[in-house]
Amino acid sequence: MGLHTASTLTTSPLWIAAILAVSSTANAALYPPQYSQVVNSTLPGALPDLQNLFLPGTTPSESVQSSRCKVYPEDANWPSDAAWEALNKLTDNRLINKPAPQASVCYDGPLYDPDQCAQLTASWNISYTHYNDPVEMMSAITQGMTCMPPNVFDTHNCTRGGLPAYVINATKPEHVQLGVNFARNTGVRLVVKNTGHDFLGKSGGKDALSIWTHYFKSNEYIEKYEDENLKWSGPAFKAGVGVQAFEMYKFAHEHGHSVVGGEGETVGIMGGYIQGGGHSPLSSLYGTGADQVLSFDVVTSSGEFITANSTSNTEIFWAMRGGGGSTFGVATSVTVKAYPDHPTTAARFSFTSQTVGNETFWAGIRSYIDSFVPNADAGTYAYFTIGNNVWNGILTFTMTPFFAPNKTLDETKAILQPWFSELDRLGITFDPNITHFDNYYDAWRSSFPLEAVSKVNSTTGSRMFPRANFETTEKRDELLDNLRQSIDNNRFQVHFNIKAVDPLDTDNAVNPAWRNNILFSQQAVRWPVNGTAEEILKIRHDFQEGDMQRWRDITPGSGGYLAEADRLEPNFGIAFWGSKYEKLVELKRKFDPYDVFFATTSVGSERWKVESVNGLPNENGKLCRVDV
Ligand SMILES: Cc1cc2nc3c(=O)[nH]c(=O)nc-3n(C[C@H](O)[C@H](O)[C@H](O)COP(=O)(O)OP(=O)(O)OC[C@H]3O[C@@H](n4cnc5c(N)ncnc54)[C@H](O)[C@@H]3O)c2cc1C
Ligand SMILES: *[C@@H]1O[C@H](CO)[C@@H](O)[C@H](O)[C@H]1NC(C)=O
Ligand SMILES: *[C@@H]1O[C@H](CO)[C@@H](O)[C@H](O)[C@H]1NC(C)=O
Ligand SMILES: *[C@@H]1O[C@H](CO)[C@@H](O)[C@H](O)[C@H]1NC(C)=O
Ligand SMILES: *[C@@H]1O[C@H](CO)[C@@H](O)[C@H](O)[C@H]1NC(C)=O
Ligand SMILES: *[C@@H]1O[C@H](CO)[C@@H](O)[C@H](O)[C@H]1NC(C)=O
Ligand SMILES: *[C@@H]1O[C@H](CO)[C@@H](O)[C@H](O)[C@H]1NC(C)=O
Ligand SMILES: *[C@@H]1O[C@H](CO)[C@@H](O)[C@H](O)[C@H]1NC(C)=O
Ligand SMILES: *[C@@H]1O[C@H](CO)[C@@H](O)[C@H](O)[C@H]1NC(C)=O
Ligand SMILES: *[C@@H]1O[C@H](CO)[C@@H](O)[C@H](O)[C@H]1NC(C)=O
Ligand SMILES: *[C@@H]1O[C@H](CO)[C@@H](O)[C@H](O)[C@H]1NC(C)=O
Repeated sequence: MGLHTASTLTTSPLWIAAILAVSSTANAALYPPQYSQVVNSTLPGALPDLQNLFLPGTTPSESVQSSRCKVYPEDANWPSDAAWEALNKLTDNRLINKPAPQASVCYDGPLYDPDQCAQLTASWNISYTHYNDPVEMMSAITQGMTCMPPNVFDTHNCTRGGLPAYVINATKPEHVQLGVNFARNTGVRLVVKNTGHDFLGKSGGKDALSIWTHYFKSNEYIEKYEDENLKWSGPAFKAGVGVQAFEMYKFAHEHGHSVVGGEGETVGIMGGYIQGGGHSPLSSLYGTGADQVLSFDVVTSSGEFITANSTSNTEIFWAMRGGGGSTFGVATSVTVKAYPDHPTTAARFSFTSQTVGNETFWAGIRSYIDSFVPNADAGTYAYFTIGNNVWNGILTFTMTPFFAPNKTLDETKAILQPWFSELDRLGITFDPNITHFDNYYDAWRSSFPLEAVSKVNSTTGSRMFPRANFETTEKRDELLDNLRQSIDNNRFQVHFNIKAVDPLDTDNAVNPAWRNNILFSQQAVRWPVNGTAEEILKIRHDFQEGDMQRWRDITPGSGGYLAEADRLEPNFGIAFWGSKYEKLVELKRKFDPYDVFFATTSVGSERWKVESVNGLPNENGKLCRVDV
């Protein structure tokens, strides 16, 4: 379990190499005494009074442990410039100091540039604009909306809001270890950003130290990986955690394979996605993202660099497969199962209520609901939306796409036939484009939309509708009524008809609700862009108590999905992890006793709250203990 490579020794001061060269034993307790191996005598020379900030395995000082809030720039305990400079030196000059929000180019100041602002405005709603940025999150409302392109939303001023103060642009595990040790020892808030896709803003935090994992881009094909405990003997990929969907799928395709990952092109499928469970166009065949993991390389809260797999550090391995990101450690690489590059058939089409009226439109949706169980059981995936145009009251259903991996054109048509016949009988016109591809990669590339991000006046809640909701005609009618009522309340809906059962049935921390899922559904609440904080909060609470509660009421014992959810989800621990939550909370205590890692609605996060400046649920405020 090597902690670092020899090359570090040539680029870092000797004493830091010594700090990092802590030997470790698999499954040993993560906190002292094994760190007694790190003695000051092995840390010669430079920066003697700062050395302790970088030591692994240390227990934070009493003042850090008892401080009501994390440490902030106005506090006496905020690290000195010299301490930040030491962190910068030790991380190979990869520390970015107060990165400016991208929209700084739109506001008075040294970065003002109208041409760049126009460009940024035009591309603001696509993910490509944000993932390359060290701090920007794709959910602008969680940043606090303190610096946006004025033509998107005029913030009148540009401040960093909920964005971090410092970012380590990490490329080696050592960079991560140093950041974790520094945060633990100083009490500065730590965040981890990969791409910034998380719906809830879990990759940001005001004046935090951020570890940016985007440039962990290595990838390696392993022809045969064997692990008896996980019942796997077959091909695998060992990927850096910064590898994104579009890169991973291409690399896998080039090696004649596919992997389970999200549909969105730029999602960090080896980062937050995989640790949070993750649903995929391949889930109906192979389960969730987390079910794919064979091994993680991880920096723990104590700053130790470990391998977590079925035989080493098995509790962390269990927890990180579904327990959520930024909770048990920072992964630097992950080894996942590889599958055949299946031939795949995809279908896209839409229909509206315009000519047929609302009743017939909903009858068309109702007839589709009858197909959900057989379609998921057949290994297919469907991603569709239902929306109401507030201006003209026209309802639209969009299939974007229906996706049938390992199915021929004829097989796919046969699967869709019962529903299509009903649509025909109802007089609903639609024109499906059903295309067969000879591999998964081309099918994926050609079939999925690039979704809009960084919305300014909406947020999304989610719920899993289990098999039980489809068992009788009455249950299927009840579901339809609930979807319809939400549409009548203007809740735009995104649905996924998928199964997410691990065919090898390995135990991990994935929300058990996924195992019964047939329909995973999201609905969005909107508010007036310029509403006051009180108005917005009221609308958001009403949404949780109304439309979201109705979905919860008809799905007792089911849950929501932690990565596509609302920060206001009540009892999020039970909603996102169900019966796994108790053990996860215990493991969080054990492996991160000082809460070095925090993300909103993550395991154990009940102990802390972001005290946001406007009272809205966002990252623009101090992170403080709840019960002090
Ligand atoms: C357009 C779009 C499409 C999406 N499509 C899908 C989909 O098809 N299926 C699906 O399941 N989800 C999907 N999602 C949701 C997505 O899975 C989550 O947003 C997920 O959190 C993204 O992970 P990330 O690492 O890219 O994002 P980030 O926001 O950077 O990170 C998410 C969380 O994970 C933590 N984290 C990231 N990397 C690490 C690491 N290496 N170690 C420890 N913690 C880490 C972060 O701290 C943060 O808490 C989509 C989201 C968007 C915006
Ligand atoms: C290292 O030295 C510092 C002060 O120089 C001291 O506070 C600390 O206890 C020492 N640590 C160990 C492990 O000896
Ligand atoms: C803009 O923000 C800065 C920093 O918070 C503040 O000092 C300044 O007064 C603000 N300006 C306006 C016009 O709101
Ligand atoms: C982060 O590091 C990568 C890899 O070294 C580099 O290409 C990139 O420019 C850096 N980004 C920033 C903002 O420093
Ligand atoms: C788990 O990782 C350890 C350390 O790298 C390794 O020795 C062991 O073989 C791995 N276990 C499996 C099942 O691969
Ligand atoms: C893919 O299809 C073939 C032929 O129908 C079948 O034998 C195989 O089991 C399928 N694979 C999966 C993972 O369903
Ligand atoms: C159908 O979809 C395929 C693949 O996306 C595309 O190449 C083709 O142009 C589409 N056909 C029509 C008629 O739109
Ligand atoms: C982004 O917004 C523009 C209009 O400003 C729109 O044309 C485009 O379709 C949007 N992109 C996405 C991905 O929604
Ligand atoms: C159809 O339903 C939508 C959404 O509830 C509504 O706005 C619209 O008025 C309805 N149309 C008719 C003709 O009733
Ligand atoms: C929400 O914002 C969009 C623009 O981003 C705007 O078109 C819409 O009218 C807003 N909704 C409300 C209710 O203000
Ligand atoms: C909200 O903003 C829009 C344009 O951004 C404006 O037309 C409207 O009057 C504003 N509403 C209120 C209540 O301020």
